[in-house]
Amino acid sequence: MKYGHFDDTNREYVITNPQTPYPWINYLGNEDFFSLTSNTGGGYTFYKDAKFRRLTRYRYNNVPIDDGGKYFYIKDGDTTWSPGWKPMKTPLDSYECRHGMSYTKFNSSKNGVAAQILQFIPLGFWGELQKVSLKNTSSETKKLKLFSFIEWCLWNAEDDMTNFQRNFSTGEVEIQDSTIYHKTEFKERRNHYAFYNVNAPIDGYDTDRESFLGLYNGFDNPDVVNDGTPKNTVAHGWSPIASHYIEVELQPGESRDFIFMLGYVEVAPEEKWESKGVINKKPAKDMMAKFDTVEKIDAAYGELRAYWDRLLGKINIDSGDDRLDRMVNIWNQYQCMVTFNMSRSASFFESGIGRGMGFRDSNQDLIGFVHQIPERARERIFDIASTQFEDGSCYHQYQPLTKKGNSAIGGDFNDDPLWLILSTTEYIKETGDFSLLDEMVPFDNDASRAKPHFDHLKASFYHVVNNLGPHGLPLIGRADWNDCLNLNCFSEDPNESFQTTGNKKGSTAESLMIAGLFVVYGKEYVKLCKRIGKDAEAQEAETHVEAMIEAVKKDGWDGDWYLRAYDYYGKKIGSNENEEGKIFIESQGWCTMAGIGQEEGMVEKSLNAVKEHLDCDYGIVLNSPAFTKYYIEYGEISTYPAGYKENGGIFCHNNPWIMIGETVLGRGDQAYEYYTKIAPSFLEDISELHRVEPYVYCQMIAGKEASKPGEAKNSWLSGTASWNFFAITQYILGVKTDYDGLVIDPCIPSKWDGFKMTREYRGATYNIEVQNPDHISKGVKRILVNGSEIDSKIVPILEAGKEHSVQVIMG
Ligand code: BGC
Ligand code: NOJ
Repeated sequence: MKYGHFDDTNREYVITNPQTPYPWINYLGNEDFFSLTSNTGGGYTFYKDAKFRRLTRYRYNNVPIDDGGKYFYIKDGDTTWSPGWKPMKTPLDSYECRHGMSYTKFNSSKNGVAAQILQFIPLGFWGELQKVSLKNTSSETKKLKLFSFIEWCLWNAEDDMTNFQRNFSTGEVEIQDSTIYHKTEFKERRNHYAFYNVNAPIDGYDTDRESFLGLYNGFDNPDVVNDGTPKNTVAHGWSPIASHYIEVELQPGESRDFIFMLGYVEVAPEEKWESKGVINKKPAKDMMAKFDTVEKIDAAYGELRAYWDRLLGKINIDSGDDRLDRMVNIWNQYQCMVTFNMSRSASFFESGIGRGMGFRDSNQDLIGFVHQIPERARERIFDIASTQFEDGSCYHQYQPLTKKGNSAIGGDFNDDPLWLILSTTEYIKETGDFSLLDEMVPFDNDASRAKPHFDHLKASFYHVVNNLGPHGLPLIGRADWNDCLNLNCFSEDPNESFQTTGNKKGSTAESLMIAGLFVVYGKEYVKLCKRIGKDAEAQEAETHVEAMIEAVKKDGWDGDWYLRAYDYYGKKIGSNENEEGKIFIESQGWCTMAGIGQEEGMVEKSLNAVKEHLDCDYGIVLNSPAFTKYYIEYGEISTYPAGYKENGGIFCHNNPWIMIGETVLGRGDQAYEYYTKIAPSFLEDISELHRVEPYVYCQMIAGKEASKPGEAKNSWLSGTASWNFFAITQYILGVKTDYDGLVIDPCIPSKWDGFKMTREYRGATYNIEVQNPDHISKGVKRILVNGSEIDSKIVPILEAGKEHSVQVIMG
């Protein structure tokens, strides 16, 4: 069953039934100021950091689900309704929620009143706008009472949810004209406040939650709205809110627009106060003035749309299948921007207080984003690299506000450093900007320990070389990409986190996943060294890569597939010898991508084994058979019930590694079949089972051994977004960036006649048309650039500012 449909022309997903199988959300904001909004108006807003600068409150895992948001109540006679359906949940005459590129629109109606809400954050602005348009479509005069509602969070979202003995006494607000200011802690150590304003005179307000709702009432039964009369309360402690009350009289056919603004202000310490206890409102008023008319807000909305036109115009395909086109052209790219912005911090599954920016996560997110805004990618690479140590190890996460490594989480995830080689080389291949290699980048956020960025890559490479185990394979450390394969942890205490608890030292546990990763990015490192004239370093590095290939062939092969790891005792993991967890996806992905043992048939055998043991109707599971008991020497992976998360779930992030592996063999039909199994737009018809948004990837779909195979969780923030974009565009459609041009080497379903791609690259527009007259999957016979045949698969860098035709004939 479907709950809406795609509107590709407008780049929107249109939800027509508010009761989606799970809240279907959108992200507003592009740089510093963000908001999450669900299809029923739920969600929250923050500045830069969802933990330290949370503006509005949200209750995760609440009943009913998704309570708290930016709500409106329209009281029309005895009926009260909300344009987003929630919180009132009054049945609506019509309802539509349109999630678009950084904006959301609601179109609803009830009893002859139509309400439209346009919600977005203007580019470069620290405020969220809601344009609320009410129209009387009946033949009678309507006397409506409009109430707005938001609930302030006391800034630090974690403290807000835990430290009630203090927080119930700290809340402070100011009210002036049509603006409610939230100034909790402003007089002490904060130089920021927030405000909620409407561009019209108000007829009352409330700022105290208990008075507004009634102590024992929910958001769907507020006393003030029930009575139809605001109480004009001024919050002192407890839970401050902001609610405006406006009486709106509309003649038949008449409409009115209101502009609500939720803003964030920082003031210099010496300019904090207007007078004793009265905050300096000037910056807030300046912000309000920027968008106090419909014309101004419409212009800002137009700019936002144009911004996305430009971003999404850079890669555009026409494959003949709308489901694929809308993933590549719209939603997958959009999700890549969101993962770039959020890493794993704030979604409806990530609380915004648990995790900041991940070292491995953000490096990987970058590969789906770098073509959009390379300058931001460059800055991000430095932010990440600055949290690395001289020996190549690094903090696993850092806070976006401070950009400092998070010591509570620590490090020792031995895959982490290698992802920096991925992000850096992809950045250079996209932009041709080698200069970032020479920029001085701190170690451990200490400017006095800065070295050229290239040295960070070298440190990353040698971190593996310097941490090899008994088989010459990389030591896993705390864990590799699979955070839950905790081979040194041996945890018996339910109160400790697998992610942070102390590890046994002097271990022997080795990872075949890191081995494959090292061969792939080790080769990239060598290639880069050669490209920049560091030949001696290239030669030296090459010997380490060769040695790794040999080590994998010798001790990493199980007969029909690659092993996954050696445990603390030196025993095999992911071997046919094991009772459970005989085969794992990650090492098959990375070792086949690396082409290790291809001549000996290893790559083919491994991928055939994936098909046989890991593939199922809904995608490729992570391991099989899934673990059914707790293995103390394996850690968190064996804590999950079989078929979920890292234990036999379909972990969508790693499925594209297999797709790419398949392209090494030239099996385009298989690669694409795997693609379509997890691509959300292909799953729209099974939304009832799938549950999460049909327009963005999720991290995990329950696997074949789960109780409900096909049911998905953890949508939005996952490396799945960038890896699928990378796999489909660069390996399946096969238009791959390289230092000296675009390599064109598609690996597509044999039944395709071809496809078209427009690719903006180094300032030029490449209009690529691939023809597949012989119906093969891989193989390029001829490439014509602007009519002339070239003699390689690399289309060179062409004149910037111009359009060029690239005709590719497969055969
Ligand atoms: C999850 C992983 C996640 C890790 C992060 C684990 O519980 O299963 O997917 O990466 O937590 O802390
Ligand atoms: C989610 C984490 O964000 C990512 O870093 C990790 O690789 C996967 N889980 C697998 O455990």
